[in-house]
Amino acid sequence: MHRGGSWQLHKKEALPPPRDELQPLRHTPRTTFEMLPKAATSRLLPASSTLSVQTLAAICSRKATKADYPLASSIANNIPIYDLPKFSGLSPSQRSELQNEWYQVLLHGPGVFVTAGLYRDKALLDEVNGVYASIIEAEKRNAAAKGDHFAAGGKNDRIWNSFSKHALADPKSFVAYYSNPYLALVSSSWLGPGYRVTAQVNNVKPGGSPQECHRDYHLGFQSQAAAAQFPRAAHLSSQFLTLQGGVAHVDVPLETGPTRLLPYSQTYEEGYMAWREAEFKAYFEANYVTVPMGQGDGLFFNPALFHAAGANSSADVNRMVNLLQISSAFGKTMETIETAPVVERCWEEMGRMYGEQGWSDEVEALLGAVGEGYPFPTNLDKNQPEPDELTPPSEQSVLRKALKNGLSKDEVMEALRSLQAKSRA
Ligand SMILES: [Fe+2]
Repeated sequence: MHRGGSWQLHKKEALPPPRDELQPLRHTPRTTFEMLPKAATSRLLPASSTLSVQTLAAICSRKATKADYPLASSIANNIPIYDLPKFSGLSPSQRSELQNEWYQVLLHGPGVFVTAGLYRDKALLDEVNGVYASIIEAEKRNAAAKGDHFAAGGKNDRIWNSFSKHALADPKSFVAYYSNPYLALVSSSWLGPGYRVTAQVNNVKPGGSPQECHRDYHLGFQSQAAAAQFPRAAHLSSQFLTLQGGVAHVDVPLETGPTRLLPYSQTYEEGYMAWREAEFKAYFEANYVTVPMGQGDGLFFNPALFHAAGANSSADVNRMVNLLQISSAFGKTMETIETAPVVERCWEEMGRMYGEQGWSDEVEALLGAVGEGYPFPTNLDKNQPEPDELTPPSEQSVLRKALKNGLSKDEVMEALRSLQAKSRA
């Protein structure tokens, strides 16, 4: 599939396509910055009661055309499909044109595209599948229960940090796999230079249930209450901090449940507050689209796109996909802070202040400064979310518990060491 289209790198036609009533929305996309507050409006987004599924429906009624995305080989269910030619045959300007178009797709357009033939070496993928199978088997023998966001345990095989585990298990196929220059071209089109690749394998077995509709990391991994505490600008900027992708390691026909996607939903600005609401889930269920994928095809999407893995209703196909989560260079501190020595030196003083003041504003401010408040990056095999939590413990949550329980310096240091050990790759 997706192999029939010819590669095109000509410019857009001078004449625009016929206009319909949705055309103004296409050319003045409702994205980015409309929800940023004017002087008199709130820093935070309003309560969920103001969310409008009609707004989402209007956004998602847009139609992507070949005229919008002239480099695509075809558009299937609003999803541009790019039949990738041999990378070395592309001139620098052709690479740049592709990056421009992908950026437009992700930002203002459908928010998702397929790169057909991202990996043409099927033997390599079969080899990597063998490596994944051996990792999965070894972890099963270990029998550690794993946290798995958005999926019921036991219906799928998950390899957290398949990137590192692959490198350690089989350097030869790892080097061949991650030296794909198209991965770099796609990643930098959205994130610029200095990005970091992480990967997680999801192998959904026949009978595997679909995921629920969601958005992805960062804000998508926060509870609705936690997301509500982030300012409006953070709701917009979350999408620019990661690129979500997937490589089909086997043929993924429709019956095996390729990813369910809601094109254009990444431009619904209140989406991080909305996707858990029943009427939005219902809209997603009634309107999502999918495209079948061939072994070696890639799928890339804006992390703010509403999406969900599909149900595997095939009789005998294991839907093996390597999920890529590529992170922006931004969002990191300029200096490294080692929390443990700071806590070790200051614990008695911190304990004294807490003893005198309890959870005062001053104690809260100190806690916010001393410990890392964000639990990522972490090791999701070892540092799992508590039941009913989306995120694992952070240094701050460990310190908070330690103050509350009156831990000694030795005890709090042990708790921090344990968290650090669990967070290592
Ligand atoms: Fe997801």
